[in-house]
Amino acid sequence: MSNEPAPNSRKPLISGNWKMNHNHFEAIQTIQKLAYALNPRDYDHVDVSVHPPFTDLRSVQTVLQADEVPVSLGAQNVHMASHGAFTGEIAPPMLAKLNVEYVIVGHSERRELFGETDEVVNQKAKAVLAADMTPIVCVGETLEQRQAGEAESTVSQQISGSLAGLSGDVVAGLVIAYEPIWAIGTGATATPNDAQLMCAHIRSLVRSRWGDSAADSVRIQYGGSVKGGNAPELMAQPDIDGALVGGASLDADEFARIVNFRLYQA
Ligand code: PGA
Repeated sequence: MSNEPAPNSRKPLISGNWKMNHNHFEAIQTIQKLAYALNPRDYDHVDVSVHPPFTDLRSVQTVLQADEVPVSLGAQNVHMASHGAFTGEIAPPMLAKLNVEYVIVGHSERRELFGETDEVVNQKAKAVLAADMTPIVCVGETLEQRQAGEAESTVSQQISGSLAGLSGDVVAGLVIAYEPIWAIGTGATATPNDAQLMCAHIRSLVRSRWGDSAADSVRIQYGGSVKGGNAPELMAQPDIDGALVGGASLDADEFARIVNFRLYQA
């Protein structure tokens, strides 16, 4: 008898990455609209997180707490040090104090525009874990890498580097987001089959490096132009355990449709 959970026993996590959008007034409106658009039973089969800009976190936390909304608070980035002379940076314990549960690390925009390497992403992931939060570790290839047949090797390298030094028990509790860069904010989504193939590849990498229980427990999100319309088919794939949603998460009704992808599945 195996103790392994069936692949579909992982609870999907739908995360809204607001990026650099919404001041704190707009953030309050958006989270209130989202809370209204979702009903308590919607959270039975899915976890939900929102990742506002740093300046909105306290306002959104206050609404979530006051209205007892079962949406987790998330951040988009963090520094790896716990405190110190790092002008302009935010430390993991500061986020933890705001009840932040999930922190995105290594988003492709951080990697491409701000020069974050796998080593930096690895340090940030460890710092997030040390503050008792869960990192959402992003990986994904460029269009050039895909066209050159290097998509799998690129993602393999990102996984090895970003998760270096973590134990199987820790990897089991992580969230990995596969986001092909060519699909982010472009309206071009990976086909459900392409997304599934890469997520299965990631899971098999985790299995060979960290073991069965890590591979069966780690949640792997797909990200890149996820919308209400394409979420049901993407989420039906056996190795896709949720979505990291950018543009569509700014609209509370559209994001609620994604959260409720089950209602629209064939
Ligand atoms: P998108 O962004 O949904 O706007 O493509 C996804 C992301 O960058 O996380």
